[in-house]
Amino acid sequence: MAPAPPTHVFFVSTSLFIFLFHYFITTAHSASSPSSPQALNTNTDYMINPKLPPRALTSSKKFEGSSNLVNLRYHMGPVLTSSPINLYLIWYGLWAPSQKLLIKDFLLSLSPSTPATPSPSVSDWWRTLSLYTDQTGANVSRTVLVAGEYSDLRHSHGTQLTRLSIQQVISTAVKSAPFPVDHRNGAFLVLTSQDVVVQDFCRAVCGFHYFTFPSMVGYTLPYAWVGNSAKQCPEVCAYPFALPAYMAGGGPGALAPPNRDVGVDGMISVIGHELAELSTNPLVNAWYAGEDPTAPTEIGDLCEGLYGTGGGGGYIGQVMRDQGGRTYNMNGRNGRRFLVQWIWSPVLQACAGPNALD
Ligand SMILES: *[C@@H]1O[C@H](CO)[C@@H](O)[C@H](O)[C@H]1NC(C)=O
Repeated sequence: MAPAPPTHVFFVSTSLFIFLFHYFITTAHSASSPSSPQALNTNTDYMINPKLPPRALTSSKKFEGSSNLVNLRYHMGPVLTSSPINLYLIWYGLWAPSQKLLIKDFLLSLSPSTPATPSPSVSDWWRTLSLYTDQTGANVSRTVLVAGEYSDLRHSHGTQLTRLSIQQVISTAVKSAPFPVDHRNGAFLVLTSQDVVVQDFCRAVCGFHYFTFPSMVGYTLPYAWVGNSAKQCPEVCAYPFALPAYMAGGGPGALAPPNRDVGVDGMISVIGHELAELSTNPLVNAWYAGEDPTAPTEIGDLCEGLYGTGGGGGYIGQVMRDQGGRTYNMNGRNGRRFLVQWIWSPVLQACAGPNALD
């Protein structure tokens, strides 16, 4: 009865191994001086290097004793090549309209647009995903749509969810909402509000992705879950917009979120991380590193905590600061700005993001 544990995708801890790895791959181009602001794409915003360490460097034992560096490999399964990728959003609990708009603006910024969003853009970030292929040579789609939405305002499965009950939430939404059975292009994104406790949330994960079981939902489709950590653990899941207590004194302090919402701005990067992994490893048999398919290290995990050039070796990297002091590293639609972690590029064999300085 017990299903396999959902893949554990946004780990709260990053291993020392990865820490050192980033250090080595980034030292080569980390010479830019953090104290001299560099104009990037506008005259008013400046590059900053906030001297914040990546989110967590403790307890993961995953890479201990590993002798090879990153062995990201393709395991012959499908990736999301059908275009567009149709996202079906499930808002679980109470969400402010402004929060929904913010998240949807991010999701709708993933696709290329006309006219193009100023660089560095969210769609430039997603372009790295299209470098991943399946065994037929088909690339991951560059286009992502919000194809349907359902609001579960009454917490139909309570405010304490297990990993498995996320699938019950999806099942309820599928029965209640006019979601088509979208075998070819569909994926679910479940977003839980700040009052919802989810198994392993804060302690081990900020989000995860997996696929639905026919016995629970009626068919198999990839899904991702991300929670709003604002009340429960912003210092873990909305880092660096909130800092753990031990870092509060003396350092640079928490960074101001680009859209003034610590919890939701923090979710954006986790959503990006999960969608990147969901599209390249939707059935957990395509792109991942490590020998253990029940605990794969995926393309977001490899770059967790890294947001700009010179990141790693203890820092999140060079990002931008606007006139209001808010921190971001990419532009989206409607003039939005977001701070999103980098992802692994199979071409560069390194973490990549649109705000790279080289
Ligand atoms: C598809 O992926 C291959 C392999 O990474 C890459 O060389 C090619 O540019 C990609 N094509 C598109 C349209 O992104």
